[in-house]
Amino acid sequence: MVLASVRAKRRSSMRIAIIGAGAVGGALARGWTRAGHDIVFGVSDPSAAKHAALRAQGFAVASNREAAGAASAIALAVPWAAIEDAVASLGDVAGKLILDATNPLAFGPDGLSLAIGFTDSGGEQVQRLASGASVFKTMNQVGYRVMDAATGYPTAPSMFVAGDDEGRKIEVMGLVADLGFEPLDCGGLRMARLLEPYAMVWINQVAVRGAPDTSAFALMHRR
Ligand SMILES: NC(=O)c1ccc[n+]([C@@H]2O[C@H](COP(=O)([O-])OP(=O)(O)OC[C@H]3O[C@@H](n4cnc5c(N)ncnc54)[C@H](OP(=O)(O)O)[C@@H]3O)[C@@H](O)[C@H]2O)c1
Repeated sequence: MVLASVRAKRRSSMRIAIIGAGAVGGALARGWTRAGHDIVFGVSDPSAAKHAALRAQGFAVASNREAAGAASAIALAVPWAAIEDAVASLGDVAGKLILDATNPLAFGPDGLSLAIGFTDSGGEQVQRLASGASVFKTMNQVGYRVMDAATGYPTAPSMFVAGDDEGRKIEVMGLVADLGFEPLDCGGLRMARLLEPYAMVWINQVAVRGAPDTSAFALMHRR
């Protein structure tokens, strides 16, 4: 039902800057390209030889500032340790949509854990760094292989969206739907405090308990 209403309000194609050309960035780029969006990757060094493969696939590759400046939506797909530099390098992001797919991961005495929690979240930190932008926490909850092709499941995998800009949330829900997920409104950005630990549940299932890395979550309703 949610998916139908998001699709009914579908907007035209967008130019999306993906900051970070790694596993998540690549999956998002392929999915959104299939949905008709125009992708530009923001990378630390656009002249690096390693980006030739992206260009060969038809993707534009630019500095973070150029990529963000040319886009109306920006997806953050960098390691948490790089988030401060990455957001600072975007330049003026006032009025832009930012989809924050990062998880504030850190290695502690018990292995992989969250560096932030309970009274703050990575998403809220990104909002503080990205003055004037509308930041949404989403696309952080499952692995990149699900993002690459959210198909073949009995029901569309769920993807929660948390953000404070209620007026623009529908655009983000549309972008999430374009990747094949059922977007679910999770409330304001402080709900990132739940969505980041929720990602740890997926990581535990896959990295520790042997679930396939294509495993996904779905909120189901009894018929
Ligand atoms: N992997 C998953 O399945 C998954 C799922 C959900 C969420 N996440 C989150 O998504 C984020 C990315 O994960 P990933 O697995 O895609 O990591 P990854 O494969 O290591 O890719 C990260 C990319 O970010 C780039 N990068 C680093 N600093 C940058 C900067 N300042 N500007 C532009 N690009 C920069 C890196 O490029 P260089 O190598 O050139 O530094 C690399 O290409 C992380 O926060 C992770 O927690 C991951």
